[in-house]
Amino acid sequence: MKDRYSKKKSAHLEQHARTERMVAALAHEIKNPLNSMKGASQYLHDKYNGQNEISEFTGIIIDEINRLERYLNEFLSFSSGMSLKLGKVRLENFITAILMIVKHSFPSDIRATIKKTPMPEVYIDQEQMRQVLVNFFSNSGDALRMVKNPKAEVILDADKKNAYITLRDNGTGINAKDIKHIFEPFFTTKDTGLGIGLAISNTIVKKHGGRITVKSVPHVSTEFTISVPLEKRRNKR
Ligand SMILES: Nc1ncnc2c1ncn2[C@@H]1O[C@H](COP(=O)(O)OP(=O)(O)O)[C@@H](O)[C@H]1O
Ligand SMILES: [Mg+2]
Repeated sequence: MKDRYSKKKSAHLEQHARTERMVAALAHEIKNPLNSMKGASQYLHDKYNGQNEISEFTGIIIDEINRLERYLNEFLSFSSGMSLKLGKVRLENFITAILMIVKHSFPSDIRATIKKTPMPEVYIDQEQMRQVLVNFFSNSGDALRMVKNPKAEVILDADKKNAYITLRDNGTGINAKDIKHIFEPFFTTKDTGLGIGLAISNTIVKKHGGRITVKSVPHVSTEFTISVPLEKRRNKR
């Protein structure tokens, strides 16, 4: 029984990986023609600069191409190969390295709390998991820039089954109506948001066998927690 189940499951994962590779390839393929279209529109726009409707309409085309490019770039920043390249990681070091980079553009200090020392080692795809965390930090940063006394904290913890990475902030928070939708592709509450960060992050964490949970009391505390299973990955080796 179990065998048949895991066979079915691995066929499903394979299919999933194939689809992801195809989507990533497609995104790359879309970039080149978009670039040519942008170049041609830009040429006309400059030539007829401000003179007539050619200039007006090419302006619209260029704006829309820019928007598509932002979607593609954000999407591709997550899809570094798509299939997981698992490696053994000490989460303390992993988080420290990420903090070194994000702290420069972050609107507050970021406290780091390690609840269990040493943390157990985990098997993760560092590149992809880093993108997930960078997106969390970027979201927290956006939420903190709107409040008076911004604070953020990263908490590492573990129990027998999982390691947990939590990012807590006291930013604007997420209301009950929105929180059901934040993992949906293209859901955003920001004027220039794309709404694909959490959707892709969720997929990446799920591929690791983990999950993302979220709790928010607007303006008081918003917490995103990633869990990463310990045993499962070890058994696989
Ligand atoms: N730390 C946070 N504080 C408040 N809202 C958040 C936070 N993280 C995510 N969100 C909400 O989730 C939505 C979706 O996030 P995301 O998928 O990263 O897309 P984007 O950042 O482009 O809007 C955001 O628009 C925001 O409403
Ligand atoms: Mg985001």
